[in-house]
Amino acid sequence: MQQLSVVILAAGKGKRMGSDLPKVLHSVGGKPLLAHVLATAHHLEAAVRVVVYGHGGHQVKTTLAGESGVLWVEQAKQLGTGHAVAQALPVLDDAGITLVLYGDVPLTRLETLQPLVDQARQGQLALLTAKLADPSGYGRIVRNEQGQVQRIVEEKDATPAERGLCEVNTGILAVSTAKLRGWVAELGNENAQGEYYLTDVVALAGHDGIAITAFTADQPTEVQGVNDRRQLAELERFYQRRQAEALLDHGAILLDPARVDVRGEVVTGKDVVIDVNVVFEGVVRLGDRVKVGPFCVLKDAMIGDDVEIFSHSRIESAEVGAGSQIGPFARLRPGSQLAAGVHIGNFVETKKTIIGPGSKVNHLTYLGDAEIGAGVNVGAGTITCNYDGANKHKTVIDDGAFIGSNSSLVAPVRIGKGATVGAGSAVGRDVPDGGLCLTRAPRKDVSHWERPAKPKS
Ligand code: UD1
Ligand code: CA
Repeated sequence: MQQLSVVILAAGKGKRMGSDLPKVLHSVGGKPLLAHVLATAHHLEAAVRVVVYGHGGHQVKTTLAGESGVLWVEQAKQLGTGHAVAQALPVLDDAGITLVLYGDVPLTRLETLQPLVDQARQGQLALLTAKLADPSGYGRIVRNEQGQVQRIVEEKDATPAERGLCEVNTGILAVSTAKLRGWVAELGNENAQGEYYLTDVVALAGHDGIAITAFTADQPTEVQGVNDRRQLAELERFYQRRQAEALLDHGAILLDPARVDVRGEVVTGKDVVIDVNVVFEGVVRLGDRVKVGPFCVLKDAMIGDDVEIFSHSRIESAEVGAGSQIGPFARLRPGSQLAAGVHIGNFVETKKTIIGPGSKVNHLTYLGDAEIGAGVNVGAGTITCNYDGANKHKTVIDDGAFIGSNSSLVAPVRIGKGATVGAGSAVGRDVPDGGLCLTRAPRKDVSHWERPAKPKS
């Protein structure tokens, strides 16, 4: 099979974004536009991915440095799409085929592109077009009476009749690399914009007797480019709709598919229920029957089966064991690892903390750098004082311990197995297994106490 090279044009300025950030680094679904296109090329099994960059190239390259095997080619002056492709040709192999994509057209599906690639492998020139109610601004597809594609005319060069055509060029095309090289070398710039138009290769292919196939994208949005922030926002919604549909197709229940955002990847088990205004970031795994309440943010989280997360909770880089209950208003920070059946209640924050099975931390608590055993009960208002101003220290609470409300555990400190800390204690030394620690000052009672009163004037 002829190998596929994907050339991604990304040298344009993106002036209309009104941003210091290069256009292709703006995000959809939490990921730069260009990263979406690189991923698409990867999934098409491209042997070579070439990005033609221009403005802000350094920043683009640094941001996407994690992408391996990408060739970066500079187009110092933006002399047109044909000129941009010409910059990439020296690194391409004539034995293969080339697919041209755009760094600011992020959401074209594999199902839409694969037929173009297949057709190019059959020796044809394959184009992707779209039918738009308002075609203004786009190049128009000109066909003959038999319906065969003849050429593409840019709006600025089009006759009034041609401007009336509603089939537009998306710019995406696939063809033999050797053929493309020959036609690109022939391009001129005698047109309204004085640019080297890639679109002119279509007429050249026709002259060479190469069959031209135009595929029409069934959803115009998937070939929509981003030129301004409105279009970016539109694509974000389109993308989120797709993510929500994918979750529904995997069997999740979304109480409102329009009010869930996926900025990364979510894998759901069976019968998962996701309430409104939930945001997923990074990689999130939800086990079977997990319920996520409204207004939760889950980022890089592993959630076990039958976990219930009540509203307004944030879970980041954390693991929650099966059957646990989290929130409402809980914050699990990075390094929180909860075993099965743990209860974390309202206004509880955990960080770098391991909590054993069945332990309960129900109210108003901070646990940082802590190791908590099984069956522990942490009372309301407990604080691990893990930071001495310079270093972080560890708190260990062993199995079955009971921490009375409003206690401060001054780390490093260990509360032994089955030990009890009386409410309101400040614990700075270890408590032995089975022991009781009380640091409250002894109570003093004065009967018939008279409160001070202001002198009467
Ligand atoms: C181009 C097509 C037009 C099509 C439209 C779809 C040509 C001549 N016209 O028009 O038929 O309907 O896209 O959006 O191809 N780019 C470079 N270097 C350049 C010029 C452009 O990298 O020198 C990149 C831009 O970053 C952009 C893409 O190519 O991603 C398209 O460029 P743009 O100037 O937007 O082309 P249009 O005039 O809109
Ligand atoms: Ca454009």
